[in-house]
Amino acid sequence: MIENLPTEYIRTDFGHEVYDEWYLQHGNYNFEAPDFVKRHIPFYQQALGLSHKDYILDAGCGIGSYTREFARCGFPVIGMDLSSNFLSVARQNTLHENLEIEYILGDYNEMSFQDEFSVIFFEGSFFYKSREGLVSLLSGIYKALKSDGRLYFVHPNQTIIKKKYPWTKQTEIQKNVFIHQNAEYDEENEGETHTWLKIDYNTNRHFKCDFFVKLLSPKQLKVCLDEAGFRVIHFYKKRRLEDFQPNYDNGFSLVAFKN
Ligand SMILES: C[S@@+](CC[C@H](N)C(=O)[O-])C[C@H]1O[C@@H](n2cnc3c(N)ncnc32)[C@H](O)[C@@H]1O
Repeated sequence: MIENLPTEYIRTDFGHEVYDEWYLQHGNYNFEAPDFVKRHIPFYQQALGLSHKDYILDAGCGIGSYTREFARCGFPVIGMDLSSNFLSVARQNTLHENLEIEYILGDYNEMSFQDEFSVIFFEGSFFYKSREGLVSLLSGIYKALKSDGRLYFVHPNQTIIKKKYPWTKQTEIQKNVFIHQNAEYDEENEGETHTWLKIDYNTNRHFKCDFFVKLLSPKQLKVCLDEAGFRVIHFYKKRRLEDFQPNYDNGFSLVAFKN
């Protein structure tokens, strides 16, 4: 049956209209729940030394889960995402709460801000495909930050990730949508290769997607951050103030200071 269906290849996941449509229905678990977000605000406040004068860019804000929480807590914030589908949900939710937040459609790899933000914040949205791409992204972030600016992102720990690969997840989920996901750690390219298949039995639409995400080690990341100009870098346990343990933790929260 699979062979007879029309196949559409989608080269990337986020930002593709069809994928985002699917994501909003079935992949919603990738956006953080309000309770989870709220719980980690004290960590961001301390690790980033947030003040109410700070201007935050929530990069890859998705449906605005973190953007809205920052606004609720009184921090000036703006959301950016490359998906117009996600941003329209973010705008609706923001309106329902009577909050005022600007959302901009854009690719954070292409941003050309200068001395604009106090904090550039990525939660589950910091992706790069090559070392060069990463250094270029970090240089853009460095430029976009004010002189006391801070960069924040969450990143998987390559050492632990390597141990759990390859994995295959095969599910049959609601609304007649069959999903097959497979991921492998690609030793040569130091990253994750994902393949993903969706068959919608209602419409007979069949989509296939494959994408690669590079995952540098903390040491390699430090070198790239240094190349982009960042000098002071701190690795925390994910969303916690304790120090990151490279041999135990599956990921870390990183804060880098412009000065
Ligand atoms: C797993 S979601 C996390 C969203 C949000 N930070 C949260 O935790 O609820 C990743 C988000 O990053 C966005 N994204 C991925 N690459 C991006 C890019 N190059 N520029 C802007 N947004 C991007 C995706 O569209 C998606 O909304």
